[in-house]
Amino acid sequence: MSQEYTDFVINSFGPKATPRSRRIIGSLIQHIHDFTRENYITVDEWMYGVEFINKIGQMSDSTRNEGILVSDVLGLEALVDTQTHAVAERHGSSTAATSSAILGPFYRENSPVYKNGESIIIKEVGGVKAYVSGKITNTQGEALAGAMVEVWHCAPNGLYEQQDPEQPDFNLRGTFYTDKDGFYSFVCLEPTAYPIPYDGPAGGLLQFMDRHPMRPSHIHWRVTHPSYHSLITQIYNREDPYTEDDSVFAVKEDCVVDFIKADGKIAEEHQVEKELRFSVALELEEFVQQDRKKIYAQQKALEDHLHEKSRLNSTTK
Ligand SMILES: [Fe+2]
Repeated sequence: MSQEYTDFVINSFGPKATPRSRRIIGSLIQHIHDFTRENYITVDEWMYGVEFINKIGQMSDSTRNEGILVSDVLGLEALVDTQTHAVAERHGSSTAATSSAILGPFYRENSPVYKNGESIIIKEVGGVKAYVSGKITNTQGEALAGAMVEVWHCAPNGLYEQQDPEQPDFNLRGTFYTDKDGFYSFVCLEPTAYPIPYDGPAGGLLQFMDRHPMRPSHIHWRVTHPSYHSLITQIYNREDPYTEDDSVFAVKEDCVVDFIKADGKIAEEHQVEKELRFSVALELEEFVQQDRKKIYAQQKALEDHLHEKSRLNSTTK
């Protein structure tokens, strides 16, 4: 069926559809029709796709989000994340804001609040202990007091606590607040590479693509402060070969870090073998919003241009 049929479907929207839903769903219809025509999708293949989507829902529950996993394997979450948080202009700042990275499916709200320097290890699960410290600043380099820093990572067996009946609730997760100088610190484990769950649709996609399921060893971060744009990111161990070959395409160069041997005083005081210094710069929320408005204006101009073009085409037919 031709473009005329696709236009007929897109033009079926009622008058109460919002401009945004008209644009997004209209665009989805256009792309999915083009995809179907270009690839000569058959009824059997379409039904396979329908069952694939059904399976994503059936496999998801409070401890597993298969929809996010499928998005990740397709590189979609990394793309959405980057374009949502990209700051188009530097706004006269002296440092770039720290890059964001995908949230992933294992975040939990309300992790235990610890004092700076305390450990997020509730139960010993092996691994190498590390002391992580740094400053949270704005992009002018000014310290941000009272910023909330949430961190979480998996155990050396590759499982997050909610996936693992052997770990207590909230093991290897914690919330910290920066002091008056923007300083935070905590003890965790040097992170471990792990496979994303691959016994469902996301794993099926990986097989079709002849790809491995491994994520490089990483620690997740969520940093929030009232006036600043919240940052969700991950830090990656430079020594891990998967840092160059992430199954979900989430690695950002400024978040690749070096765990070094802890110096004597820190090693003794915190009972750790390794140390990591990692500082984070947050962008002002108003700057991110200004940039977003500019992007929406550009999109609107493009949409108006395409609309006008299609109107002129139809009047000359
Ligand atoms: Fe993770």
